Amino acid sequence: MNKNTKIYIAGHKGMVGSAIWRTLSENGFSNLIGASSKELDLRNQQAVRDFIKKENPEVIIDAAARVGGILANNDFPYQFIMENMQIQNNLIDSALQNDVDKFIFLGSSCIYPKLAPQPLKEEYLLTDTLEPTNEWYAIAKITGVKTCQAIRNQFGKDYVSLMPTNLYGTYDNFDLNTSHVLPAMIRKFHEAKENNHAPVTLWGSGLPMREFLFVDDMAKAVVFALENKLPDYLYNVGTGEDLTIKELAEIIQEITGHKGEIIWDSTKPDGTPRKLMDVSKMHELGWKHQVDLKEGIQKTYNWFLENTENFKQVKLK
Ligand SMILES: NC(=O)c1ccc[n+]([C@@H]2O[C@H](COP(=O)([O-])OP(=O)(O)OC[C@H]3O[C@@H](n4cnc5c(N)ncnc54)[C@H](OP(=O)(O)O)[C@@H]3O)[C@@H](O)[C@H]2O)c1
Repeated sequence: MNKNTKIYIAGHKGMVGSAIWRTLSENGFSNLIGASSKELDLRNQQAVRDFIKKENPEVIIDAAARVGGILANNDFPYQFIMENMQIQNNLIDSALQNDVDKFIFLGSSCIYPKLAPQPLKEEYLLTDTLEPTNEWYAIAKITGVKTCQAIRNQFGKDYVSLMPTNLYGTYDNFDLNTSHVLPAMIRKFHEAKENNHAPVTLWGSGLPMREFLFVDDMAKAVVFALENKLPDYLYNVGTGEDLTIKELAEIIQEITGHKGEIIWDSTKPDGTPRKLMDVSKMHELGWKHQVDLKEGIQKTYNWFLENTENFKQVKLK
């Protein structure tokens, strides 16, 4: 792909979008555009149509969404289903109306059925019921994947969905009300260490198994999908390796240097028992992750320490 290709990254100030922007720049792509939610509210159909028409990008990467953990999904079901559908519908439809040839949509491993066989293959999508704690987000995201597939089938355009596993890394969200498990643990262990190694209370039993991918590796998968016309409509992106939440907590405890007790609050929900991606489709095409979990957590913790004062609202430099 020509390095001057005009690429619009929706959500370029988020954790994933900023990693995609960084990685594309490092790979020599020089014609990147973005707009913050203040500049362009992607829920506003007319505003999105006008923006795409005016900017006329050749490629759109959709890394914009309302995201969050179990707590946020549970408290704001309407926002999770409606805003995500609005954002993706406005972007995908405007892309089609404006004859944008390539669109990369980001799904998520949590949109597979709750009790799907493990590891999760792409073909398991829509084969059973969803995890109730995040079904609002999942239904919206499934709609996005299927809309891109419909365009692919009907118009022959390269609209493809990547399904990332749990991501973490620089510019992660460390706000305990809305964060995912890994950054939440980093913050909790760090603050407990600062507080004379006070005990850390974590949600659930610690037994569920999860897979984590460093966000820069995810961004490299997006670059891979950009530079290659992937033959299918849907690809899992992960490491293909998982661990228990308890094992994750022990790694983070060691990296942060916390020496206190860990208390598991079993009155809180565990979520899906296991969520591991089968990443063989991407491996066969030639993409594989490069950063292992301990290295990625260390990098994330270093970034957290450098940004402790303002990590809730870090802006891109
Ligand atoms: N994080 C994960 O573990 C994970 C895992 C699987 C899939 N994904 C997918 O990756 C994508 C990005 O996630 P993330 O973790 O990077 O989330 P994030 O850090 O919260 O970033 C989300 C971005 O979406 C933008 N956005 C949200 N609502 C918007 C609106 N109404 N108008 C315009 N922009 C809006 C935000 O813009 P502003 O910053 O300008 O407000 C922000 O840049 C999502 O599609 C998510 O489903 C993430």
